[in-house]
Amino acid sequence: MRRIVLWGVLFVVIVGVTAGVTALLVNIMERKREAEEATRRLIEIAKTEPDPAVWGQNWPRQYAGYLRTQESKERTKYGGSVPYQKLDENPRLKRLFAGNPFSVDYKEERGHWWSLVDVKETKREPKAGTCMTCKSGNVSQFLEEAGSPAQFYATPFAQWAAKAQHGISCVDCHDAKTMNLRISRPAFLEAMQRRGIDISKATRQEMRTFVCAQCHVEYYFRGEGKYLVFPWDKGFTIDDIERFYDEYGFKDFVHAESGAPIIKIQHPEFELFTTGIHYQAGVSCADCHMPYKREGAIKISDHWVRSPLFNIAGSCLTCHRASEQELRERVERIQDRTYKLMVRAEEAIIAAIDAIKAAKEAGASDEALHEARLLHRRAQMRWDFISAENSMGFHSPQEAARILAEAIDYARQAELAAMRAWPARPTQ
Ligand code: HEC
Ligand code: HEC
Ligand code: HEC
Ligand code: HEC
Repeated sequence: MRRIVLWGVLFVVIVGVTAGVTALLVNIMERKREAEEATRRLIEIAKTEPDPAVWGQNWPRQYAGYLRTQESKERTKYGGSVPYQKLDENPRLKRLFAGNPFSVDYKEERGHWWSLVDVKETKREPKAGTCMTCKSGNVSQFLEEAGSPAQFYATPFAQWAAKAQHGISCVDCHDAKTMNLRISRPAFLEAMQRRGIDISKATRQEMRTFVCAQCHVEYYFRGEGKYLVFPWDKGFTIDDIERFYDEYGFKDFVHAESGAPIIKIQHPEFELFTTGIHYQAGVSCADCHMPYKREGAIKISDHWVRSPLFNIAGSCLTCHRASEQELRERVERIQDRTYKLMVRAEEAIIAAIDAIKAAKEAGASDEALHEARLLHRRAQMRWDFISAENSMGFHSPQEAARILAEAIDYARQAELAAMRAWPARPTQ
């Protein structure tokens, strides 16, 4: 009897151990297979292949993440993926951009999949081929077809729009052969070259920011051929950019009410970011906007590029020891402060516009109004640097506050200068 029990126990132990070892082996094999799958290439991909679905045959996980950039139903307090009309939510913008197409249509941005759809639909009606540069995975093909960047830019937008099929895609950030990150847009290479920076020597961590800095930047179109230029010759701060534009004698439009020569600042995420603590600590755009995630045995970068506030655990808690709630509050505290200063700046600039208009109506000459208009330009460029930047100050909180404080000061100086510009009252 004893013996039978002993054999029984032994049998159960053997079966248990065997099952355990088998399960472990199956698990290891499964993970190995998955890991192999992740690096295996089913098809060759052409150098300028624009279609993300083709790349997706080799890398289905990244492709699935990319496809989710189509989702555009959720907002955060100051960002998110819903393309609402900013002009409806903030009527001050119409006056601030009077005389510029941004007073007609100014939507919140959304995911990369949408870029081509949105640029084709905007009522700002792009004319130059240059406007396609940041919007389509077909651009690498078009650059080859055109033969040179200058030719690509000088071709009418409508011509490229008729041929373009895809929004921002794999080819914009990756080399098809090696899958390394690559720079696909000439304006970034040219601007960095002028700063003495050789991109071919960039580290992998730097590239995780530089691929984004091909598009998430301030730019202007130079000359008749609308050549795309990033205004970085003197540096990345708004003061450096202003000195560059002043020397070059550039304006985007004349303000319809004040007559000031204004620069319309575009999304300078990269430039503002370079003045912040995360950049200085070596954190990259991808660290927060494309964090690693685990799928089975495999660690991949989340290709659902979006607001990190939708995924604080993945985006922030890798480095910060705090609760999600705590971090969200820290972000929103920074953003609330920035927003309040920003509204103050808008009100101050509108007061300046009113004062310049009133002086003009009272008969002030262009010469007398010169100083006030210059100050309006300085104020508006600074306010717009923070307003058009998409993080509501988060990418560099202290710099954002500094710039807005200067914007408010310049706007009030413009108002005073306009009052001084009134013609002398006739003596009785
Ligand atoms: C330390 C983390 C972090 C880094 C690094 C970072 N960002 Fe952000 N970014 C944020 C946060 C937080 C927001 C605010 C999101 C919101 O308000 O919903 C944001 C907002 C944005 C937005 C607007 C998103 C939206 O939903 O409207 C864009 C675009 C953006 N960042 C691009 C960049 C680029 C380009 C870089 C690198 C040059 C970068 N970010 C670096 C954290 C980061
Ligand atoms: C080829 C140009 C290009 C490159 C490269 C690029 N972006 Fe974008 N990005 C855009 C455009 C254009 C939009 C706005 C699309 C729209 O609203 O239709 C956008 C939108 C975004 C948004 C807003 C998404 C949302 O849901 O609101 C984030 C965040 C963002 N990009 C981050 C990044 C990061 C991080 C990188 C680098 C890893 C990067 N982008 C690289 C052009 C680019
Ligand atoms: C806006 C730029 C951007 C686009 C568009 C993009 N990627 Fe990536 N991808 C990255 C970044 C950044 C990394 C991280 C690279 C690193 O750390 O060296 C990455 C990493 C990868 C990797 C390496 C494994 C991993 O997940 O980290 C693969 C494979 C990949 N991407 C495939 C794709 C495919 C397929 C597409 C199109 C469906 C695509 N990517 C679109 C920026 C992009
Ligand atoms: C790759 C690591 C890394 C990631 C990811 C990261 N941070 Fe940080 N963060 C840092 C470092 C390093 C500092 C600087 C800390 C210091 O020097 O004391 C910092 C500082 C900060 C600060 C203080 C800023 C200031 O101006 O004092 C805030 C707030 C913050 N991070 C929020 C976030 C949020 C929100 C996210 C996610 C969207 C995030 N961080 C993602 C590394 C990271």
